[in-house]
Amino acid sequence: MAKKKAIHDFYQMKKSKEKVTWLTSYDFPTAQFAQKAGLDMILVGDSLGMCVYGYKGTIPVTMDQCILHCDAVRRGAPDTFIVGDMPFMSYQISDSKAVYNAGRFLKEADMDAIKLEGGTRVVSRIKAIVNAGILVVAHIGLTPQSTGILGGHKVQGRTAREAELVVEDALAIQAAGAHMLLVEAVPPEVTGYIAQTLSIPVFSIGAGKECDGQLLIVSDLIGQFQAFTPRFVKKYCDVATIITDAMKAYCKDVRKGNFPEEQHCYHMPEEEKQIFLTRIQDRTNHRP
Ligand code: KIV
Repeated sequence: MAKKKAIHDFYQMKKSKEKVTWLTSYDFPTAQFAQKAGLDMILVGDSLGMCVYGYKGTIPVTMDQCILHCDAVRRGAPDTFIVGDMPFMSYQISDSKAVYNAGRFLKEADMDAIKLEGGTRVVSRIKAIVNAGILVVAHIGLTPQSTGILGGHKVQGRTAREAELVVEDALAIQAAGAHMLLVEAVPPEVTGYIAQTLSIPVFSIGAGKECDGQLLIVSDLIGQFQAFTPRFVKKYCDVATIITDAMKAYCKDVRKGNFPEEQHCYHMPEEEKQIFLTRIQDRTNHRP
């Protein structure tokens, strides 16, 4: 079992150009698989709203839901660096609310860090949370909690002006004290510049490979999420088909009387069976 990584390991990996592997997880068994597979980091993303609860987006997700899922994931991956994702309205209202809710991830679910969305507009939140001694991962580019303002799930930084704004966000969050940065759905040339310029580790989800590590949503990677598949996703297996086929085979077996078979039954020891059969025979004989 590899030793659990800490923040300085990710800085060291950036220095030595060793890529960091990062995946989301939302439950105990998936977290066990992630740790066994040797992932460097896990994100308990508010994407659980879509991947676990079937919501259209992340907006309805609550702090209590996030804490419950983080707690389950921590039990599944006790030796992995885990980031808890702050849901919509858990940090937007005030610095003090943001610090209180960030603290809940550590106190109630033993998270190693929190993630929040936004660049220049969340600078004071980042400073407040970092001042409370909590590791912060900032998330810029396509930020799913503000797709209303962004005009949908759109690639960010495609024009020179937009790209400059993404770079300004990245510089602002580093200056505010964020410890790591996630860039989502941004052209690789922009992410590459940011990763070279910043001293903190910079990760990509749909933002190319010129950075310090990659994040994917586990439900996309295993082919479980059915609603849509973004262009940046690589599906490594198709569990939706595997699970559906297994369920169909089970229905067929039950309907045909082929399940359960002998090996699935808990038989009585022969002696007990004979006593039981005699007793029920007596009951039948004495019935009025
Ligand atoms: O919630 C999540 O999984 C995320 C990713 C989309 C980056 O924030």
